[in-house]
Amino acid sequence: MCGIVGYIGHREAYPIILKGLKRLEYRGYDSAGIALYDGKDIKLSKTKGKVVDLEAKLEKEISTDGNLGIGHTRWATHGVPNDVNSHPHYSNSGNLVIIHNGIIENYESLKTELKKRGYTFQSDTDTEVLINLIEDVMKNDGLKLGKAVQIALNQVVGAYAIAVFDKNKPNEIVVAKLGSPLAIGIGGDEFFIASDASPFIEYTKNAIYLEDEEMAIIRRGKDLKIRKIKDDSLVDPYVQELQLNLEQIEKGGFDHFMLKEIYEQPNAIRDTYRGRMLVNEGIIKLAGVEDNMKKFLNADRIIIVACGTSWHAGLVAEYIFEDLARIPVEVEYASEFRYRNPVITEKDIVISISQSGETADTLAAIKLAKSKGAFVFGICNVVGSSIARETNAGAYTHAGPEIGVASTKAFTTQITILTLIALRLARAKGTISSSDYRLHLLELEMIPDKVKKVLESEAHIKSIAEIYKNTRNFLYLGRGYNFPVALEGALKLKEISYIHAEGYPAAEMKHGPIALIDENMPIIVIATKYGHYEKVVSNIQEIRSRKGKIIGVVTQGDVNVKELADHVIEVPETLESLSPLLTTIPLQLLSYHIAVMLGKNVDQPRNLAKSVTVE
Ligand code: M6R
Repeated sequence: MCGIVGYIGHREAYPIILKGLKRLEYRGYDSAGIALYDGKDIKLSKTKGKVVDLEAKLEKEISTDGNLGIGHTRWATHGVPNDVNSHPHYSNSGNLVIIHNGIIENYESLKTELKKRGYTFQSDTDTEVLINLIEDVMKNDGLKLGKAVQIALNQVVGAYAIAVFDKNKPNEIVVAKLGSPLAIGIGGDEFFIASDASPFIEYTKNAIYLEDEEMAIIRRGKDLKIRKIKDDSLVDPYVQELQLNLEQIEKGGFDHFMLKEIYEQPNAIRDTYRGRMLVNEGIIKLAGVEDNMKKFLNADRIIIVACGTSWHAGLVAEYIFEDLARIPVEVEYASEFRYRNPVITEKDIVISISQSGETADTLAAIKLAKSKGAFVFGICNVVGSSIARETNAGAYTHAGPEIGVASTKAFTTQITILTLIALRLARAKGTISSSDYRLHLLELEMIPDKVKKVLESEAHIKSIAEIYKNTRNFLYLGRGYNFPVALEGALKLKEISYIHAEGYPAAEMKHGPIALIDENMPIIVIATKYGHYEKVVSNIQEIRSRKGKIIGVVTQGDVNVKELADHVIEVPETLESLSPLLTTIPLQLLSYHIAVMLGKNVDQPRNLAKSVTVE
């Protein structure tokens, strides 16, 4: 989704903004632009394409001087990706300039009104409507920029993170947020604005995350004032010290963020359970669960809401919660849940899962569940994100920044934290024996080393990728705990290599997908030792009889599948409930290598955004 960056202070704004936009590229975008104030006027350059295209164009078009500026990466919603629709946008007078992440839903009616008052529009965007609405309020009511922004936003329906400045008041940037993230970095006498802290992490560790319906007037060399957009009340700024460091957001010698993040999984999983699982003492402690234990124990059911990969992690959790803690679980796409008038009661617990903590549909599902009286527990990776703030309690995954659009370590760390919760509840409810509980803890502690072992198969997996890279379709099959892994494997391949892939429960194959199988169809079958193994082996035999190409993901030492399959990838033995943490790794590597061999943009696949902040 769109990324925004801004700077006001004593330094040259351009290099800060340009580097900041590059850091936000992971969010997904199709065009980019920058507006700078050079001491006399606004200089603006924008283009369809990547930030490098903008850099080449901008440096020919305008001077890059100035200590005030804003920049934007656009992920098209209203209007095709082209130069004109790119941000920043001017107001009609040319005095105001804006960048915006989000959607103004009532822009059509606002535009009609503005047209009647003589305003003209260059672009098809909702954003150009907003900047002219602000200008209109300023003109009619003789107001300063901050007040005009506030009045205009009170007429707007939708979501936004905006930054605006006025060339007649070049010591000030006004920012506001509703539904889209906005962080303000605070240096001595300078301020940074961005969709997340990565653009300014090398300049300051102090940041304010605006809450929904808040705006800030930021004055060069002075202070910033935060107000509620609705009632104008002043808000005490809460300055957080960022834990992020530069190394975490750079590639660290890997060709792609995705590969780096695949390799980070042993540490990320360890970081997720560190301090929360004390194996020798047999203790799991998660503050958000302990503080609300009664609610968890009295819950009629758990409803999990999430999107994409996080939804797949939710499906794994369904198996583990029901299996170990004997609590009924439903797993819902947040985007469906929010619109289908679901039955939710005060005895339901809703667990929302989101890496970014900003997914619009998940956020809306949470708000709906809360309005019906449910207790909402959030699982997020990004600290301080909107979902983390909106939920009643929660637990962070502590995976570290995930920059590659294709989720990898987010998935395995989400499963890790969900496993800890299931085990803690199972213990409290007495639905797990002491020996089984202890075994789970011991096994979970060994998972990071076993993931490392799987990573050693990379060269072998790469050789399989070489054989199948030009295939147009793939099937992924798994049963039980590994059915969601099949879905996740198919999603990984689709999103970064653009090859059609489908995931199915292995037994469902007979009910349709088997018709697709011939000698050209590669089928990835997850056949772990304790996962209905014989049944899966017989599914493999059915595939073999139809000449499908079989790539088996099996437990180390397997002999049966080896005889039937064209290729096998081994993973170390573990409990079936923990096996998704291992079986998913080869599927990530396979997708990665196929995409690289096909020359695809692995970290920023076409049309995709890292955090989907619009519905
Ligand atoms: O940030 P979230 O976990 O809420 O994101 C949800 C999906 O957009 C996300 O999991 C997406 O499916 C993955 N990036 C795909 O790899």
